[in-house]
Amino acid sequence: MKLKPEEEVRLNHILAPIKNDERVQDMKNYIQHGRITTFEHVESVTRLSYWINKRFHLGGDDRVLSIGAFLHDYYLYDWHETDDGHGLHGFSHSKTAKDNAVEHFGIGKHTQSVIESHMWPLNITKLPRSREAWIVCVADKCVSTKETLLCR
Ligand SMILES: [Fe+2]
Ligand SMILES: [Fe+2]
Repeated sequence: MKLKPEEEVRLNHILAPIKNDERVQDMKNYIQHGRITTFEHVESVTRLSYWINKRFHLGGDDRVLSIGAFLHDYYLYDWHETDDGHGLHGFSHSKTAKDNAVEHFGIGKHTQSVIESHMWPLNITKLPRSREAWIVCVADKCVSTKETLLCR
């Protein structure tokens, strides 16, 4: 999965203000899977989402897609500590991430729905309702599976 130089420039341009925010940088302090931090995880999901959108000519909006993907796990806590094996994190974190993203960056409805529906089908009622939401939902599952297998 490789982005073209002009795609790298475009992606960096869209994400720079978000990526450099210290609250977003805080995702480097939390582990997602194995040794992968949440920051590394969302970066991988964003790049894969961008790649899928371009290579398959899906026509998703670059900004909604990239910002939604980068903030899809913006819940800002260590789920290994808070979950206690109840599995509630899986159900609740997409809403927490969306609420943080709204509060910190004022993201619009379209981007909010990308974040909120990324855990479908676990959150069965939060069906992805746009092509950007479907792309992020699929990309997150691919990246998460790879990260989980790598840490075994
Ligand atoms: Fe997630
Ligand atoms: Fe994720």
